[in-house]
This record gives sequence, C-alpha cells and structure tokens, in this order.
Amino acid sequence: MTGQLSPIDKAKFVAAKKAVDYVEDGMRVGLGTGSTAAWMVRCLGELVREDGLKIRGVPTSTRTAELAREVGIEVISLDEAKWLDLTIDGADEFDGELNLIKGGGGALLQEKIVATASDQMIVIADAAKEVGHLGAFPLPVEVIPFGWQTSRALIEEMLISVDVLGRDVTLRMNGDHPYVTDEGNHILDLHLGRIGNARQLAMVLNQIPGVVENGLFVDICDVVVIGHGDGRVVLR
Ligand code: 5RP
Repeated sequence: MTGQLSPIDKAKFVAAKKAVDYVEDGMRVGLGTGSTAAWMVRCLGELVREDGLKIRGVPTSTRTAELAREVGIEVISLDEAKWLDLTIDGADEFDGELNLIKGGGGALLQEKIVATASDQMIVIADAAKEVGHLGAFPLPVEVIPFGWQTSRALIEEMLISVDVLGRDVTLRMNGDHPYVTDEGNHILDLHLGRIGNARQLAMVLNQIPGVVENGLFVDICDVVVIGHGDGRVVLR
C-alpha cells in the first residue's frame, strides 16, 4: 500500500496508521476528507479486508465515500448511524488547545456535523500543521451561492471589529468557476494571518446571513496524532 513514500506522505501515513488503532469491532466511524484522511481510509480498509474488522463508516464527502467503498468499508449515512463512536479526520492547522482550521479540501460542513456527532474526534496530521496561533492558513467559510458577494461584504465589515491581522476575503475558484461544495455552496477563504479569539470568531461568522458554516473547530477535537517524516508519531 505504501511503496516508497516521500517524507510528507510517510508522516501522513504513520499518523493514519496509529489512529486506526483506536477503531474497535462494531464501531460507527466518521471518515474525514483530504490526503491524510485518505490514508486512514485505506488503512481501515486493509483491516476490514484482511483482519475481518467490522465497522460502518460515515464519509464526510463524496470523494471519501467513493474511496471507502473501493477499499471495502460499509458506508452508511449519518442519519442511519444516528451517532458515531469515533471520527478520524485531517486538519489544515491545529493549536495547543487542539482547536483547528479545517476545510482546505472544501468538506468542512459535513466534517463539522460528523465530528460533532461523535463521542471522540481524532485528528491526524503531519507536524507542519501545528501552530502557535491559528490563522496563517486561510480560514474557509461556506456560503450559499445566492448573494455570496453580500455575504462577503458583511464578513469584511465584521472582520474590522475582531482580533485578526489580515482581512482579505477571496472566493475559492475551480479553474474559471467558483468552487462548488458537496452541498452546492461556495467557499470564501479568509486571509487573517492570525486569529486572536477563535471561539468568538467562529460564533460571529455563523451569525452572518448566507454563511452556512466556518472551518474553525473549537472544542471538538480530543486527540491529535502527529506523524513525522522519519516515522515517529507523537500524541497531543
Ligand atoms: C478537508 C479538510 C482536510 O482535512 C484538510 O484540508 C487537511 O487536508 P490534507 O490532509 O490533505 O492536508 O479539512 O475539508
């Protein structure tokens, strides 16, 4: 499954491999999205196929659903599962309090719903994702297409009154067209540089008309499994 991996892929792989140790027979597992989460789905698939592990997975994107089926994991919807034992997902940044920025891969809405409906959320990440303060990675905010420019203007106005360094807001593109999420929405990327109060910003953003959800995960993650290029794994 691994072949000759680059240090960054090795870091993602070893984090994913360690995280699947938390998965037990019979669990309902939230399956994250992104390149690190894809390693986790492949590792889980191997356990299902070769060790007979019995789990049901709730994917957080159509991409993850396809991969999960491909590797042999039984896929169910969140409404079928009702509640999850565990979610394993990647992140774009995490800080010392295990708050996260997610949504670089555009799946933040389903990811947040699934993680919130889980007894435990484990984040898997390479060491470069650890930061002192969130915000160097642009914060994704999912907005409905109707009036998205108005939503952007309202976000820009709101940013004046919160503790951030930068205030640029850009529409995520996919070639010549706005990026479209699995829910048919767009994503605004907020270039904030440094976020002073993640909890406050997360709450204020979600009060703006047109905003569906933001990529700040505050008090949701329980453990971060950090992989290093030399194969070491550290838990936070
Ligand atoms: C997708 C996400 C991903 O988990 C995040 O972007 C990290 O991705 P990767 O593991 O590819 O670096 O939030 O919406």
